[in-house]
Amino acid sequence: MSGDGLRPVPRHVAIVMDGNGRWAEARGEPRIYGHARGETALFDVIEGAIGLGIEWLTVYAFSTENWSRPDDEVAFLMQFNEDLLLRRREELDAMGVRIVFIGDRDDPRVSDRLRGHIADTEALTSDNRVLTLVFAFNYGARREIVEAARALAASAAAGGIDPETIDAAAIAGALYLAEMPDPDLIIRSSGELRLSNFLLWQAAYAEFAFPDTLWPDFTREHLAACVADYRRRGRRFGGVAGG
Ligand code: IPE
Ligand code: IPE
Ligand code: MG
Repeated sequence: MSGDGLRPVPRHVAIVMDGNGRWAEARGEPRIYGHARGETALFDVIEGAIGLGIEWLTVYAFSTENWSRPDDEVAFLMQFNEDLLLRRREELDAMGVRIVFIGDRDDPRVSDRLRGHIADTEALTSDNRVLTLVFAFNYGARREIVEAARALAASAAAGGIDPETIDAAAIAGALYLAEMPDPDLIIRSSGELRLSNFLLWQAAYAEFAFPDTLWPDFTREHLAACVADYRRRGRRFGGVAGG
């Protein structure tokens, strides 16, 4: 606790950016219109996160289950993510934002061109230190944990590690981004109360916020309200209050 009785600002905030489709449908527009409008919300929230002193911001952009959406919506989302990277990466770079992707970028359904832009963007921004922005793209927490288990099993089978030494730290170290701290606060917009395969391992002691606001209407003020609420909470990590 700091002198004002509040917990420090969360180091890592992770967001499930949900409600784009409903936002568009409420306006009689196609769902993809909502995704396009979500970009404004994302950039306002990035600026807000920097203003609050948050170090890590992870955003759920496309899940391993989102391939089951209609073909035209999937195609739009792929193109949209690629365009967004190309249009905004210089600006993010100038703001001191380091961009990193987690998820299965090697999936053959992800185009070589997009894969290349992802790698270029990570390289371009790798020295930035103001904020690390993690795009969870073609991300599924179960796939992440399966891949970690497979890598550890392969290492054990090859005699590289003793299975008895595999502990929570070893599993965490085999996830997509070993250096990523666990999220302190997970926000899901649009009033849905579920994780939808987002950061299952890392969420063990996260605090949650479920604002009703649909993602395209989300602003830095909504982020600040979630953070202010978080700072008033007591986190116990299995211990006792104040202990
Ligand atoms: C979240 O908005 C964005 C993605 C999943 C890419 P949705 O598209 O899920 O919007 P709703 O939940 O249908 O309103
Ligand atoms: C989670 O939202 C994925 C993203 C926001 C990218 P969904 O809208 O896909 O999740 P469900 O289907 O409501 O659980
Ligand atoms: Mg949704």
